[in-house]
Amino acid sequence: MKILIRPDAPAAAARAAEIIAARLRAQPGAVLGLATGGTMEAVYGRLIALHRAGQVSFAGATSFNLDEYVGLAGDHPCSYRHYMAEKLFDHIDMRAGAAHLPRGEAPDADAEAARYEAAIVAAGDIDLQLLGLGQNGHIGFNEPTSSLASVTRPKTLERSTRAANSQYFPDGIEPPRIAITMGIGTIMRAREVLLVATGAAKARAVAQVVEGPVSARWPGSVLQMHPRATLVLDPAAAAELELAEYYRDIHPD
Ligand code: GLP
Repeated sequence: MKILIRPDAPAAAARAAEIIAARLRAQPGAVLGLATGGTMEAVYGRLIALHRAGQVSFAGATSFNLDEYVGLAGDHPCSYRHYMAEKLFDHIDMRAGAAHLPRGEAPDADAEAARYEAAIVAAGDIDLQLLGLGQNGHIGFNEPTSSLASVTRPKTLERSTRAANSQYFPDGIEPPRIAITMGIGTIMRAREVLLVATGAAKARAVAQVVEGPVSARWPGSVLQMHPRATLVLDPAAAAELELAEYYRDIHPD
């Protein structure tokens, strides 16, 4: 794992956006795995700025998002499809139809998950997978005790995850209990993974993921087994890392 600790959260987001842009410059037809959540808003903001400055194009790219809430159609304001349109897709030059998310409104969530997994395989798997991190260590919506070999499937969300994500829902409306998420096995097939975590609320999960044992208790810890995983952190998210000084020494920038 490559651990990059940047001076603050905007610098971490900028670094992550630069890694994605560099991949697209080197491989314009890359298959990107995309993520949602508050952390990603800053990353996408930087990518949009790079695109407007003529420094990156998405015209040849394909994307697959990690997850979507079951029961929310793509035009629902709290769906991840809507989030992606608002935060990224409406502002870049990605081709219509090249951006994929699970269909939350599909009548049979198991069948939709299987269809989505098959579409990822048919696309040749993900070249660069962007990940956030849940406070409980989840990646995508792979909650603690998810099989480390899992593929895309419906998952029941932990109470703490729904509480953390309720800020994106109107008052009095709770996030759905179930989401379709890429599996940990799906994520691990990506050729490169890039996890971004900022803020003190992520410090415990970051420490477990980076320096704890590989365990389904902290699903992100499986990235220790990935041959090409980069974590971009701000100092608050890195605060509980025992070896923070070592990471800073080997990757000063
Ligand atoms: C949701 C997403 C995850 C994301 C997490 C972190 O649960 N399904 O993919 O990593 O949010 O979100 P935030 O960046 O808002 O902390």
